[in-house]
Amino acid sequence: MRFNTMRHGAAIVATVAFGWIGFAQAQDNQPAPAAPAADASATAAEAPAEPQLPPEVAKGKYLATAGNCNTCHTVEGGKPFAGGVSFPTDFGTIFSTNITQDADTGIGKWSLDDFKKAMRTGVRPDGQHLYPAFPYTAFTILTDEDLAALYAYMKTIAPVAEAPKQNVMKFPFNQRGLLSFWNKLFLKEGTFKAQANQSAEWNRGAYLVEGLGHCGACHTPRNFLGGERTDVALSGGVYNDKNRKGDYRPWSAVNLTSAPVGLGPWSVDDIHAYLKNGVSKRATTFGPMNDVIMNSMKHLTDDDVKAIATYIKALPPKSINGSPSTDKAMLNAGETVYTVRCGTCHMPTGLGADSLGVPLVGSAVINASDPSTLINTILYGTELPPPPFVSGRRLMTPLADEMSDEEIAQVSTYLRATWGNSAGGVTAAQVAKQR
Ligand code: HEC
Ligand code: HEC
Ligand code: HEC
Repeated sequence: MRFNTMRHGAAIVATVAFGWIGFAQAQDNQPAPAAPAADASATAAEAPAEPQLPPEVAKGKYLATAGNCNTCHTVEGGKPFAGGVSFPTDFGTIFSTNITQDADTGIGKWSLDDFKKAMRTGVRPDGQHLYPAFPYTAFTILTDEDLAALYAYMKTIAPVAEAPKQNVMKFPFNQRGLLSFWNKLFLKEGTFKAQANQSAEWNRGAYLVEGLGHCGACHTPRNFLGGERTDVALSGGVYNDKNRKGDYRPWSAVNLTSAPVGLGPWSVDDIHAYLKNGVSKRATTFGPMNDVIMNSMKHLTDDDVKAIATYIKALPPKSINGSPSTDKAMLNAGETVYTVRCGTCHMPTGLGADSLGVPLVGSAVINASDPSTLINTILYGTELPPPPFVSGRRLMTPLADEMSDEEIAQVSTYLRATWGNSAGGVTAAQVAKQR
């Protein structure tokens, strides 16, 4: 979320967005539904067998994994689902809540209806609005059946008496009531409706990507009110997350559509392999995608990951990219920096090599409309998931101490303007901001 794009009165509403919100309802522009909603979520048969758990609980556990509830609601080394994970923004810090079964500090007293209401509308039983850092704008499409299964699973979570940390919000952003206005604009309630003209696999993928997977929370650009721009859904977003040093900095979540600057160059198998194993011909997971893959996607059935890949691959091409730089001096300087600093692993051609660097030709990270992730990668290297994860490639080491802001801007600008890559130039000031 880039708060600097917000203006005057709008900022009051905009500040509730916090870069974690929302998702895009891909069915917005599509023909009216023909199949019953439940069709899309026939997951019971696909969920891995958990003989020790009743079937509905096992299904709920699987759905909780698909929704990555654990990652956002568990601090490192803390008790599962006890909350306390911080989501810092320019307007204050939100902490995730305790969603264990503790009656006082958790959700132990919540009925199924209370739970459904929170998941679909972001409203708690006491009538308070939740900040959209909790992705209820995506979870709102979940079917009754799936919410009941999730609830059944949540009921099995051991109670932990731990009062949720108080959000530290500046006035007036501490006024939760403002969210009712924001929701009128940006919350599109309604259970997922399968598209009759698409395959069962595509529909399953759509349900997972737009719902539990909440990919759009990071990958969709936002308007000046902090709402997701559904017209350019999944074409690349920006939000704050930890860099390798533990500091919060902007990250760009790449364009997932089939645009040439997005996942156009990726096959369904490339997307499938990347989400399931964290490694594909096109990329190795690093940074913020590590949690998405290692805590969530990796544990889904092959069929579900394939469905996600199928749906993503079918997204029509969209891009909000600016034009690449034509500054000859800058481009020449960038080419030299590339040869010295990058070419040994990524090859002079930019095509990479199996055991060295990944291809930079057609890289979605290089082509992201916002260069934050590209800059983070050069400054801090790529932080891979912890062992036993292996990429089979040479590690990309941090270059922050060896390269100036100017050199990083030059090589970034060059890479975004060469080999068919196409995205706007990068300035030294942008690099300085990411340090
Ligand atoms: C991207 C991070 C994120 C993910 C993923 C996430 N949550 Fe949360 N959740 C939050 C935050 C942050 C809050 C607190 C919002 C606030 O204080 O307004 C919250 C609040 C809640 C609440 C309200 C609790 C209360 O006491 O008011 C419930 C219920 C909840 N989450 C359930 C879930 C479930 C179930 C999942 C998985 C399907 C999930 N969450 C996934 C971040 C997340
Ligand atoms: C917490 C924010 C977040 C969420 C949620 C998220 N992503 Fe990402 N994603 C990123 C960021 C940031 C990058 C670029 C840096 C990286 O790879 O970590 C990225 C990169 C990617 C890439 C390209 C990797 C590359 O190196 O070119 C793919 C493919 C991808 N995400 C797919 C998905 C899918 C599918 C989902 C939903 C299941 C998803 N992401 C959910 C933040 C997110
Ligand atoms: C020591 C080898 C090495 C060097 C030197 C190196 N890289 Fe990398 N780079 C990698 C590897 C390997 C990956 C894949 C992630 C991983 O496994 O660490 C990668 C990933 C990337 C990515 C992410 C691509 C994507 O789409 O996911 C970008 C961008 C990148 N490198 C740019 C650069 C730039 C620019 C330079 C020079 C300033 C550079 N690299 C220098 C090895 C290297």
